[in-house]
Amino acid sequence: MAVLRVAAVVFFTLLTLSAAVRPLSKRSPSLQHSFSQVPPVCSNVDISGLQFCNTSLPYDVRAKDLVDSMTLEEKAHQLGNKATGVPRLGIPPYQWWSEALHGVSTSGPGTFFNGTVPAATSFPTPLSLTASFNESLWRTLGQVTSTEARAMHNEGQAGLTFWSPNINVVRDPRWGRAMETPGEDTFVIGRYAVNYVRGLQDVEGHEYSGDLNYRPLKVSACCKHYAAYDLENWEGVDRFHFDAKVTAQDMIETFLPPFETCVKEGDVSSVMCSFNQINGIPICADTRLLSDTIKGDWNLHGYIVSDCDSAEVIHDAQKWLGDTQEETVARVLRAGKALLSQTLVAFAV
Ligand SMILES: *[C@@H]1O[C@H](CO)[C@@H](O)[C@H](O)[C@H]1NC(C)=O
Ligand SMILES: *[C@@H]1O[C@H](CO)[C@@H](O)[C@H](O)[C@H]1NC(C)=O
Ligand SMILES: *[C@@H]1O[C@H](CO)[C@@H](O)[C@H](O)[C@H]1NC(C)=O
Repeated sequence: MAVLRVAAVVFFTLLTLSAAVRPLSKRSPSLQHSFSQVPPVCSNVDISGLQFCNTSLPYDVRAKDLVDSMTLEEKAHQLGNKATGVPRLGIPPYQWWSEALHGVSTSGPGTFFNGTVPAATSFPTPLSLTASFNESLWRTLGQVTSTEARAMHNEGQAGLTFWSPNINVVRDPRWGRAMETPGEDTFVIGRYAVNYVRGLQDVEGHEYSGDLNYRPLKVSACCKHYAAYDLENWEGVDRFHFDAKVTAQDMIETFLPPFETCVKEGDVSSVMCSFNQINGIPICADTRLLSDTIKGDWNLHGYIVSDCDSAEVIHDAQKWLGDTQEETVARVLRAGKALLSQTLVAFAV
């Protein structure tokens, strides 16, 4: 099972590598199933003969070949946000965690400013942007952000995977993070998500056509935190221990629709599950809410990631089912996640 999930990550890595080596505009549709040039990792003569380096083969064949070429231990080391890479196969380390909530930000370790690129444009907070009710504005800001992100990536100062936007439905302003979100209206949040995500991800001419599993991405966006998550620390309950009691009706009418819209209409490439539990089950270990819903019902073309250290939270704070660390990792992987927080990765082996 873990291998299948790793395959999803590696597959996605190939897609992002592909985005990294290809020009951004006017890509020929005939290139959709292959790289336009040999990925840099394959310039090593020792591995250039491996199938995953063969640009005539489809992504899924190449991804499977890459995964099959890795040992179990090597696979486990790619599961955290700080993927170690596989030097033996020419796969470089990769930091999955970059942020772009309202412009490229350095709140994730994958992005930093220095003398070469000292700053990026910081737009108003999402709640203020949402108040414009202007969908094309949201999309344009996503486009500007991803253009700056790609420029920073080219300079070695940013990744290609951005864990933004935050599309939680705000039910209670005491949360304190309402300005991070598009607010309290389920429909408006969905429209914000679609436009900002498409602004970040879409490459002109490849928005909706062909097999969406092969669609090139400008950068990868992530809709978070799934779901029913708007409590930080209140009256002795923090977000790591919070068990949101939500009726089925409220899930369907309020908390799920923004994510459903983000996946189905925004074609977002990632969804992040949140720390909390819903009705007694940790979301990051809930197969029904992750695999069955996001991948099955909504047909996600991408990966599910946990919030920072949520496997550790399930084990240490929630003590879910009395599982050992290894059992916790197995459970969250089985629930549908491709990428874990860092802390428990060592136990994935
Ligand atoms: C790459 O794959 C194509 C299609 O299967 C095959 O014809 C070709 O020989 C392969 N190239 C190499 C270098 O293995
Ligand atoms: C900024 O960081 C990048 C990536 O590490 C590096 O290539 C560049 O030289 C740095 N610029 C300065 C002025 O230090
Ligand atoms: C909406 O935003 C666009 C920029 O994307 C701007 O040109 C347009 O004037 C805005 N519409 C309104 C009604 O403000």
